[in-house]
Amino acid sequence: MTAKLLDGRALAQSLQAQFQGQIAEAVAAGHRPPGLAVIQVGDDPASSVYVSNKRNTCQKVGVTSFAHELPASTTQAELNALIDACNADPSIDGILVQLPLPPQLSAAEVIARIAPHKDVDGFHPENMGRLAIRQPGLRPCTPFGVMKLIETTGVDLYGIEALVVGASNIVGRPMALELLLAGATVTVVHRFSRDLAGHVARADLIIAAAGKPGLIRGEWIKPGAIVLDVGIHRREDGSLCGDIEFAAAAERASWISPVPGGVGPMTIAMLMHNTLQAWQAHLALRV
Ligand code: GUN
Repeated sequence: MTAKLLDGRALAQSLQAQFQGQIAEAVAAGHRPPGLAVIQVGDDPASSVYVSNKRNTCQKVGVTSFAHELPASTTQAELNALIDACNADPSIDGILVQLPLPPQLSAAEVIARIAPHKDVDGFHPENMGRLAIRQPGLRPCTPFGVMKLIETTGVDLYGIEALVVGASNIVGRPMALELLLAGATVTVVHRFSRDLAGHVARADLIIAAAGKPGLIRGEWIKPGAIVLDVGIHRREDGSLCGDIEFAAAAERASWISPVPGGVGPMTIAMLMHNTLQAWQAHLALRV
């Protein structure tokens, strides 16, 4: 392997230690701790793992987490009422509704109902719009975490050819906006795009967020490219893999993020970052 590893676990831990210090200092000075409402509807096993990781991280850094586990049969009106209550609760700085939701519920309606200043996922139209017009507020956690990992390479993104594979609201679209904000020349490919291999071969930076195991072949990658993998899939033997063929890609890339231990831990670290950001704004307003 020639690539250097982008160690998301280590970076997430150091950021979280920093957040823990900031919170401890403010609490010692008499301020209330940050509060995060974590809402899960139904019992999707992957969502349960993510939600428990988020709650454990809250405990480590000193964020008070308010857990809401609602049955899969929850109605839109019931979920809306919970969002309204969290919006009005002065001890709650951030509200996170774990996605995906059961089919009777509209994610778009729920996201738009969260007060934008408590939208620690950064998915509200106001926060996505702010990112698009270069006035970022609360920023979507996974793309934000990817940017922090790329920063550790010391590579200047101005003018480089960046490729985002996948165009979801949660990762691909805000990822493209982050890269554009950082000065990269951005291409987004998605399920209707032609010639994925050709796009990959031209890219200096590749962010894979397609949700398809092994979609990107190592041999397509331009030598020296920086490669980050947002995908996470469980193989039949129980091991985890991403959207990129790791071993082959690591022979050509200059930097690569592993799965697990790359982007995943950064998503949670940036959720904590956003919760602190919302808390600091609320404390400054004395709300
Ligand atoms: N489901 C997959 N990723 C995410 C995320 O970043 N936030 C929420 N709320 N749900 C998700």
